[in-house]
Amino acid sequence: MTDVKDERAGDEQPKLKEYEGEGITVTFEPRRCLHAAECVRGLPQVFDLSRRPWILPDAAEPGQVEQVIRRCPSGALQYRHHPAEGPPEIPDAPTTVRRTPSGQLVLRGDLLVTGPYGDRHETRVTLCGCGASENQPYCDHSGPCAEPDDDVAEER
Ligand code: SF4
Ligand code: FES
Repeated sequence: MTDVKDERAGDEQPKLKEYEGEGITVTFEPRRCLHAAECVRGLPQVFDLSRRPWILPDAAEPGQVEQVIRRCPSGALQYRHHPAEGPPEIPDAPTTVRRTPSGQLVLRGDLLVTGPYGDRHETRVTLCGCGASENQPYCDHSGPCAEPDDDVAEER
């Protein structure tokens, strides 16, 4: 596992952790992780919060890892296949936007998100709609979205 910079971003860089596997490399942006459901339930042999490193990309087929990462609503998890293993993530079409009861904005599609890291091409984001986040424009569970009954926010 290594710390890396997001080359899609501007001068200031978000902190990413990189987990390199044989066929797929997974990156994780801890400040954007909101939700304990999709990754750990989808592939517990790959994503296990009780283990260090918590991500083992080679514990499943690269295609399965990709499928589960594409369900991560915050975009905290990203992947890149190694050459010849598969294409980059294709954005959902049409783009969708959904507001949760506590105000988070959940978007999927071909997105250009402007923030302190410059313009970032994204395919999945959960943005702050309440103004409380300290990781704007992304939600960080500082606001009412931290309640466990919110439909995206689940306790970890
Ligand atoms: S936000 Fe993404 S990385 Fe965080 S627990 Fe949910 S699916 Fe996993
Ligand atoms: S909506 Fe989650 S911190 Fe604002």
